[in-house]
Amino acid sequence: MGPLQIKELLQTAPEQQTVTLKGWVRTKRESKNAIFIALNDGSTIHNIQAVAEPGQFSAELLAAITTGACLKVTGQLIESQGSGQAAEVRITDIEIYGVADPDKYPLQPKKHSLEFLREIAHLRPRTNTFSAILRIRHALAFAVHQYFNDNGFFYLHTPIITASDAEGAGEMFRVTTLDLDKLPRTDEGKINFKEDFFGREANLTVSGQLEGELGALALSKIYTFGPTFRAENSNTTRHLAEFWMIEPEMAFFELEDNMNLAEDFIKKVISHALVHCKDDLHFLQNRLAEEEKGKPQNERSIPLLEKLSFVVDNPFERLTYTEAIEILLKSKPHKEKKFQFPVGWGIDLSSEHERYLVEKHFKKPVILTNYPKEIKSFYMKQDEDGKTVRAMDVLFPGIGEIIGGSQREDSYEKLLGRVHEVGIDPQNLWWYLETRQFGTAPHSGFGLGFERLVLFVTGMGNIRDVIPFPRYPKSAEF
Ligand code: 4AD
Ligand code: MG
Repeated sequence: MGPLQIKELLQTAPEQQTVTLKGWVRTKRESKNAIFIALNDGSTIHNIQAVAEPGQFSAELLAAITTGACLKVTGQLIESQGSGQAAEVRITDIEIYGVADPDKYPLQPKKHSLEFLREIAHLRPRTNTFSAILRIRHALAFAVHQYFNDNGFFYLHTPIITASDAEGAGEMFRVTTLDLDKLPRTDEGKINFKEDFFGREANLTVSGQLEGELGALALSKIYTFGPTFRAENSNTTRHLAEFWMIEPEMAFFELEDNMNLAEDFIKKVISHALVHCKDDLHFLQNRLAEEEKGKPQNERSIPLLEKLSFVVDNPFERLTYTEAIEILLKSKPHKEKKFQFPVGWGIDLSSEHERYLVEKHFKKPVILTNYPKEIKSFYMKQDEDGKTVRAMDVLFPGIGEIIGGSQREDSYEKLLGRVHEVGIDPQNLWWYLETRQFGTAPHSGFGLGFERLVLFVTGMGNIRDVIPFPRYPKSAEF
């Protein structure tokens, strides 16, 4: 549908047929005998070469064809005279849709730093790197929906505006229509949220899980896939203030089933990218190799495609938090006091600990389970020992935590006990608690940070480069 795209054109047998293509100029090169224009329309990483003869067009028109200009080109699709591509276009007509003044257009055919490209996020999708990332991101999102659809899950649209803090971590963006210069006050001098839009405090959701559980306790298997928001002031390469999360939630799944699903899901989604994004992955693999050329051999990363195939082909390592702590206590960096943070049962693992386990000890993805209840959320099912909960975190090389999940507490009494212990007002969660009073059932679920998956699959180093318009502290442009 619509005009022929360059991706389709490159798969068409050249028989001198007349074709029309539309796209942006990547480069223009002039030799004595010909003018070569490389055009790209974002449908593929590959450009198509269009060739004109000197004198065929006015000098004025040719001068306006510069990197970034948008063109409509008509010509014959012929077998390529040069190497590197099967077909090229012998131009008969050119229409310029939009010029791009080379003195002003920031994307010139040279290497730009990722930091610089972040400042021009409105234009960076026109680079090879970002268009490849965006196509892979699309393929992964598509694979997510396909996986769940094929496995009997229903896509549940959970709200973006909520009145609860699903994770109990207090990292919420407030939603209000109150006039901040004239806040209504109660008799005690507190802000009177009764006068706010929703008649109560409201925020952007940090997770769709609690509503997801309501869905699972009716439809058995649901998943959410939507934006989530965290006002954590962390300026890291792994955190965004707005990120997309995928949260499946399943009735009648215990922790073991939950782990099996998480592993199968992530492998199938990565496999999809390996099959459908070959050219883009190859491009990113070469880009990474180019970037690391200056490093000694043993410090270079495994080639991207090899890394992805390894994850798809090998079972993840599964162990409990307690076993992980034992490994860390026996580890060389612990004995040599090389860890920045102390190790001991009860600590929240820091990223150096996770990295040691995944990258040094096991050298593969790891699923850690049965964490101490104090460091995990109130909704996780308590183990019989009274100390741990049926939590699971999936840790990936180079990424750290990619999935967090658990079996959920299905006993009303135990759940209410935890709600009180962590200081949540049960009034705010009456509807959630009620599901444990009416037909409660064992159930489990997890959350996958979509950008962390895209980061892993593309081999990029910063989460801000795998979402079109990143949101992070002091940055909400575009
Ligand atoms: O571990 P988290 O906080 O778990 C939850 O929100 C649960 N309600 C999920 C569930 O059981 N349904 O977040 C889940 C995942 C993390 O493992 C990480 O991949 C990602 O979300 N994540 C972030 N990604 C980008 N930026 C941030 N600030 C993130 N915080 C969490
Ligand atoms: Mg987590």
